[in-house]
Amino acid sequence: MFWQIKSYEEYQNAYKKSLSEPEEFWGEIAKSFQWKKEFDSVQSGDFKKVDVKWFEGGILNITENALDRHLEKRGNHTALIFEPNEENSETKKYTFQELYTEVCKTANMLKSSGVKKGDRVCLYMSMVPELLISLLACARIGAVHTVVFGGFSAKALSDRINDCECSLLITNDGGFRGEKTIPLKEIADEALKTCPSISKVIIHRRTYSDISLQNGRDFWWHDLQSSAASECPAEPMQSEDPLFILYTSGSTGKPKGVVHTTAGYMVWGAYTFRNVFQINDKSIYWCSADIGWVTGHTYLTYAPLINGITTVMFEGVPNYPHPGRFWNVIEKHKVSHFYTAPTAIRALMGQGDHWVERAELSSLKVLGTVGEPINEEAWIWYHDIVGRKKCPVVDTWWQTETGGIMISNLAGVTPMKPSYATLPLPGVEIVLKNDKGTDLTGNNIEGNLCIKRSWPGIARTVFRDHDRFKQTYFSTYEGYYFTGDGCKKDENGLYRITGRVDDVINVSGHRIGTAEVEDAIDLNPHVIESAVVGYPHDIKGQGIYAFLICDQTLLDQEEIKKSILKTVTQQIGPIAKPDKIQIVSGLPKTRSGKIMRRILRKIASGETENLGDTSTLLDPQIVEELKEGKV
Ligand code: WTA
Repeated sequence: MFWQIKSYEEYQNAYKKSLSEPEEFWGEIAKSFQWKKEFDSVQSGDFKKVDVKWFEGGILNITENALDRHLEKRGNHTALIFEPNEENSETKKYTFQELYTEVCKTANMLKSSGVKKGDRVCLYMSMVPELLISLLACARIGAVHTVVFGGFSAKALSDRINDCECSLLITNDGGFRGEKTIPLKEIADEALKTCPSISKVIIHRRTYSDISLQNGRDFWWHDLQSSAASECPAEPMQSEDPLFILYTSGSTGKPKGVVHTTAGYMVWGAYTFRNVFQINDKSIYWCSADIGWVTGHTYLTYAPLINGITTVMFEGVPNYPHPGRFWNVIEKHKVSHFYTAPTAIRALMGQGDHWVERAELSSLKVLGTVGEPINEEAWIWYHDIVGRKKCPVVDTWWQTETGGIMISNLAGVTPMKPSYATLPLPGVEIVLKNDKGTDLTGNNIEGNLCIKRSWPGIARTVFRDHDRFKQTYFSTYEGYYFTGDGCKKDENGLYRITGRVDDVINVSGHRIGTAEVEDAIDLNPHVIESAVVGYPHDIKGQGIYAFLICDQTLLDQEEIKKSILKTVTQQIGPIAKPDKIQIVSGLPKTRSGKIMRRILRKIASGETENLGDTSTLLDPQIVEELKEGKV
């Protein structure tokens, strides 16, 4: 592809041009995709009015770019390799032609189930090929998919379904994940008690678990899909028609339904993928993320397929049935490009090098990481032991809202530095600001990471709540997109992400809002008040620490703690369970009643010496109690 950057100089030129002549730059790139009707304008709108649009006037379907476009020349090339949970069960492979047929049949199944363009379809599934196929099937007919990660609870699922009023749900009878079987249909049944918008449920059979079917509402995938026609015309979509909604946590309130539209997201995902990973036609690429998160949308599903290469999908977990599983998957499928999260790298590093060394990993060319800051030790282990010092490591910074990678080195093309995301992709104009909103300039600076101008992949809105979108991302610094992350720039101008500066905790690469966990905990009848903060955790990056004031009805602290874990699991899911719970008699509050989280963060991190100014506290004595009771 002419837009693949091959040298540092080319990167510098592309970067410059993307800022000085953005229309020409992105216009040329976008024309290399398949359009039913080419766009009239490249970009309009800005971050002041928050009305960004890309490639207006264009008509396309993203699945024609991911599938149809490859059929003639690469129809028999492997598009998808599915590696099941059990190491010895059979791998499944789909060529582009086969995947195309499956997507068309599934699209027809959705159509005959009453789904129309613009309808929202919820996918609550485990990591099986039918999940990836369902995403594409929705896109084929212009339905908006909203995937809910299979680890979320019934309550979290119903909240999301209700927020965007999905008409249909696709789920599995159950999902395999390591040693566990997740009863997805059972959880969905519980959720659907409070979801009036859902009129149909399609169940893909995976675990053969015993489930109940509700007459007239529930249908088996295999009954409906096998009889569906194998051709389905791609729905003509406007560039700015919504492609998907994905819920994500922020500092305040309930998770937001982030909306991505069609053309800009497609161009951004495909462009960043090819350039960051430096793939070629023979690449076999494996992204270990779950499709329930944005990484699984952009870099497991859409971007690799749009680029016409093989994407590997793994059903299981890194340490099942043994800590060498990841490396065996790489060996088995001759993976050339591997993309995973620092939390997995740290966990596997702790298992010893022999698990890696006994696998034959010579196929590997590029290693990637995403989701949270990677510490230097983990970066070096990944580079030296997994990559045998031969594979560049790309540390890719981005977010659900950015649609694709924003800051990263380009593998083997631009410089890398352990624990640095390094340089912005073309089109990404970074500004670091201090708390007062002043731009910091030059090198050797540290501030809040903002983006100055729009790029094709940016989310367009929060579903049915554009004010919240503006408020959350564009009000801290007017006219700028504020990421919520802190960032350093070193003496050579390379960027390092330091982590969230807001009330979001990043647990094993999963974004969790402290307010969300507090709201869940507060529903427990024994809790009077709670405050949740993050603290450094060796494997997960951050852990969840909860301070609670409880009533006196239950005196056994262990009982209270168990009950809290149950409440959080029910309200959100096991991923949001606090790692540590401390029961306290009060919280450090200012005279105006605000909890001083800064102090709680320090106590939770074990930094009890320099707590800073505590003179504005209503009751400074409480700090001593908290320090003593730290768990
Ligand atoms: C964090 C995941 C440091 C960051 C794609 C961001 C990172 C949040 C990196 C978004 C990285 C992601 N280095 N931090 N390479 N990548 N983050 O929406 O705090 O699930 O704001 O998107 O993850 O998480 P999200």
